[in-house]
Amino acid sequence: MEKADKIINKVLNKPAQDQQNLLLTKEYQVQADTGLTEQMCSICGGRGIILQGDTAIPCSCMEQKRIENNFKSARLPRELQKCLFDKFNLDYYCTSANREYYENAKRALNAAQTFVKNVLNNPHELGLLFTGSVGSGKTFLAAAIANALLAQQKQLLFLVVPDLLDELRATFSNKTDTTEFDLLDIARTIPILILDDLGAYNYTEWSRNRLYSILNYRMNEQLPTIITTNLDFEEIEQYLGERTCSRLLQMCRIYRLSSEQDIRMQKYLQRENLK
Ligand SMILES: Nc1ncnc2c1ncn2[C@@H]1O[C@H](COP(=O)(O)OP(=O)(O)O)[C@@H](O)[C@H]1O
Ligand SMILES: [Mg+2]
Ligand SMILES: [Zn+2]
Repeated sequence: MEKADKIINKVLNKPAQDQQNLLLTKEYQVQADTGLTEQMCSICGGRGIILQGDTAIPCSCMEQKRIENNFKSARLPRELQKCLFDKFNLDYYCTSANREYYENAKRALNAAQTFVKNVLNNPHELGLLFTGSVGSGKTFLAAAIANALLAQQKQLLFLVVPDLLDELRATFSNKTDTTEFDLLDIARTIPILILDDLGAYNYTEWSRNRLYSILNYRMNEQLPTIITTNLDFEEIEQYLGERTCSRLLQMCRIYRLSSEQDIRMQKYLQRENLK
């Protein structure tokens, strides 16, 4: 199946007489990357173009499709597509008598929003590392960054570290497959990488080297990386080694997020009217 923009260019370059025929040809129907025919756009009938007099112009649904495809290749899980900056509620950090949690959360939110603003103009913006307890909103902020950038058509990849390592290992053992290199290479070179849950994992020398290789490449190329972890730096060093730990310091600004109680638990209690 040809890519939509290629098709549009083709149609736009054709003489007027041909356009009508092209539009009627089934093979020029725009289909999603999955190969499944999606719900047809009611304006263009799924062709991706509309005729205005003798000229064909791209339909507005094409922009939407491009955004959807960018979302798909970013691998941001569906649940996390709901995490938007304006839904980041600071009330969850007000439960403690001291204001530290609240101030930290405000700083982290501010840093995430500033990152988005800056990286749109500077592809070499410093990355961010969110550290803190389980259920304190680290993944939420990383996902909010992803959503804001995807809405601006930025290319990024959201990877959950344990899944990434499993996937790399699975494809590595299957020697005929080139996917291990592909994923590793994409993780190294994608303009913005989000590594979620760099945590207490049973790292082998092999997986440690893979992470090092990704981070070292990105540091050298000054490509921004967003990291969430519930480890402190001493633990990161213990799990990943000194050379990776020191690279993280060079690549990222560090923010701490803590809440008195797991926000998942707080939400659960609210949902079940137990609070
Ligand atoms: N500030 C916040 N406002 C609203 N919901 C939040 C906030 N922080 C976290 N959540 C929600 O609480 C749950 C746990 O947050 P998450 O970001 O996954 O925690 P962490 O990654 O720190 O373990 C998720 O359902 C998330 O959507
Ligand atoms: Mg998390
Ligand atoms: Zn359309």
